[in-house]
Amino acid sequence: MDTSARHLRLLTETIAAVNSSLDLQEVLELVAREVADALATDACFVYLYDEPTDELVLRATHGSRVEEMTRTPRMRPGEGITGTAAAERAPVMIPEKAHLDSRFKQFPNLREDEYESILAVPILAREKLEGALNVRTREPRAFTDSEMDLLVAIASQVAQTIEHARLYERAQRRVAELEALARISEAVSESLYLEESLEAIVKTTMESLRATGAALVLEDGKVAWPEGRPGAYAVRLPLRWKRRRIGELVCDRDTPFTDEERALLEAIAHHAAVALEHGRAVMRGVLAQEIHHRVKNNLQTVASLLRLQARADNADPRKALQDSVNRILAIAAVHEVLTVHREDDVDLGELVDRLRAMLVQGLVSGKEVTADLATISLAGQQATALALVFTELFQNALEHGGAHVALELARRDGDVVLTITDDGAGVGGAPAGTGLSIVQALVRDELQGTFELESGAATRARVVFPV
Ligand SMILES: Nc1ncnc2c1ncn2[C@@H]1O[C@H](COP(=O)(O)OP(=O)(O)OP(=O)(O)O)[C@@H](O)[C@H]1O
Ligand SMILES: [Mg+2]
Repeated sequence: MDTSARHLRLLTETIAAVNSSLDLQEVLELVAREVADALATDACFVYLYDEPTDELVLRATHGSRVEEMTRTPRMRPGEGITGTAAAERAPVMIPEKAHLDSRFKQFPNLREDEYESILAVPILAREKLEGALNVRTREPRAFTDSEMDLLVAIASQVAQTIEHARLYERAQRRVAELEALARISEAVSESLYLEESLEAIVKTTMESLRATGAALVLEDGKVAWPEGRPGAYAVRLPLRWKRRRIGELVCDRDTPFTDEERALLEAIAHHAAVALEHGRAVMRGVLAQEIHHRVKNNLQTVASLLRLQARADNADPRKALQDSVNRILAIAAVHEVLTVHREDDVDLGELVDRLRAMLVQGLVSGKEVTADLATISLAGQQATALALVFTELFQNALEHGGAHVALELARRDGDVVLTITDDGAGVGGAPAGTGLSIVQALVRDELQGTFELESGAATRARVVFPV
């Protein structure tokens, strides 16, 4: 077979092999192996051109390996023998002692001085520099013109494959980025809880940027969901809502960030800002709803208390109004405790203390009140019922009972027990005033408990209800 026919076959076979993959790294490794085989050389080095840095970066080798890949060999077009081929867009051939050539560039982790000859060619796709490659032999070798033509032809064919693989890689990366953003959108729209959204944002940032660490820093300086560790490089992006800065997205990595990755981070930061604002708006809405609901409930309670009072026969109007005022103040006491502590639950001890101070005020002195109160807390609505019940019973003890009144709040088998004892003469028969009707109705309907009033050596009113 003559040389040109053989070379044509080598060209066809090489291109066919290289074209079997779309994965850029795999393509480059195939190029290194197939080219070394086609030209029967000892080694082949394939460099890819990185436009942003204007550098040729060694991406694949065959027949030789790069020792300690701490720093990937890279050079500018024009630097070294292969760089010269790239810059001049023409092959460079040195048959022997290539490492003594003035253009030779030494890399500490590349054992290039073991090769005598070199043939370097640029990889050009329609005039665009995609990279460069070289073949090496340990023995001196003068590559023929037709061998040089063959390598140039292979390189120009390979350039197309590399370009396609690069485009494919970029498309894959775009898809991955869009998927990451979609995951964040989904988490933000599905989650009612701000924390969950923020967690999803930080996790997705970590994954999609292969970051060593990420976090969201909120405007109050609070760091939400810090993950991982700091890296050698960090990007901090402001979270903005209507031009206002509401926090910061921080991403750490050991390798630098590309412009595309920064753009992705910006998109993530935008999502995070939306999630934060959305979450806060939801919280404000929930809170407002809750407050409206409580106000409505309390006004309804006040209305039924007044209605009950209005139905009472031959009651003294002034006393009726004063009792009603105390009932409304009892409800207000619950809100006072809630306001002071900014909590959802009310501490009963504190509530009882407030009511006591309020009821004893302006009363004829000479009453001795002792209290033994366990630490118990109740949710708003139950606390309101208990405040009203306590107010009625304590007021009765003060008004109708003996000189000594004892208050006790205790826990017993999962129940709360409120006992108000006085050493008075006690109640006769079945007393049925407005006060005790209120107590009975609230204990039954709001506290789901029981109420008893005993007269013996002492008068004892007791309310038992589950927490
Ligand atoms: N601890 C007590 N000692 C003695 N009598 C009591 C005691 N508690 C209630 N009573 C009696 O039961 C009656 C009914 O009480 P209730 O609290 O239901 O009425 P009220 O509408 O609040 O009016 P009052 O101001 O009289 O208490 C009272 O008028 C009183 O005679
Ligand atoms: Mg009463």
